[in-house]
Amino acid sequence: MELAGVTPDPWQRQLLRSTARRRIVVGSRQIGKSETAAALLSHRALYRPGSLNLVLSPALRQSAELHRKVLATLRASGAPVDVRSETVLSVELATGSRVLCIPSTEAKFRGFSAPDLVVLEEAAALPLSAWQAVSPMLAAAPDADLVLISTPRGRRSWFADVWFDGAGWEQYLVPATDCPRISADFLASERRNLGDDIFRQEYDCHFLEADPELDAKNPRVFSADAVDRLLGSHVDPL
Ligand SMILES: Nc1ncnc2c1ncn2[C@@H]1O[C@H](COP(=O)(O)OP(=O)(O)OP(=O)(O)O)[C@@H](O)[C@H]1O
Ligand SMILES: [Mg+2]
Repeated sequence: MELAGVTPDPWQRQLLRSTARRRIVVGSRQIGKSETAAALLSHRALYRPGSLNLVLSPALRQSAELHRKVLATLRASGAPVDVRSETVLSVELATGSRVLCIPSTEAKFRGFSAPDLVVLEEAAALPLSAWQAVSPMLAAAPDADLVLISTPRGRRSWFADVWFDGAGWEQYLVPATDCPRISADFLASERRNLGDDIFRQEYDCHFLEADPELDAKNPRVFSADAVDRLLGSHVDPL
């Protein structure tokens, strides 16, 4: 990050310097999660020749944005960069190191083995199937690092389970109040705009019991009427 003229915040510095194999960040919006992911990936690509560094994001737009941040960091370092941008957004260095930015909609994520670093960005928005694809990938790579970074998205998610279980993970909790670029005035106006629950999710690292987005995507399978019919209590007007 310093190469790109940015001074890391304390949590960013600690995460970037950590040697823990498993790191998980639950953080507010706009604290620099993507910037940190890009710095981790670029650093590993630069300092471990021939390394394979993967980052999975929920959608193509986020992968493209991260790809752009990785490129900016690599270019600032002066390393020779050879870019191949097809379905998978990738950067390759002259040393053979690669950084691949893959949207979770891309089935090819399953095809990789023995990576050096895997980052799941906006991890809480990734489907369980993406999380399940990660472990086999690490089976033959005992030295690989795995880093999960996200704003919470509901207590009922694999990401919340990993966070609350916590065993084997170095944990980082970064509310908006820890970010020097986010003002108290801005947070007060966001609380008014979003309401308490969403505000606490977006800015205060809170895992909501009911996930409004999930509930909207997965409406109840059975209507109350159908349940009544199944239970035999429905009186047919005919
Ligand atoms: N340590 C830092 N110093 C100065 N600016 C920073 C720092 N870290 C991140 N930024 C800037 O803050 C802004 C937000 O960063 P970034 O997009 O990485 O945040 P984010 O947590 O991923 O946000 P979102 O929740 O919207 O995905 C960007 O303009 C980024 O360049
Ligand atoms: Mg981001």
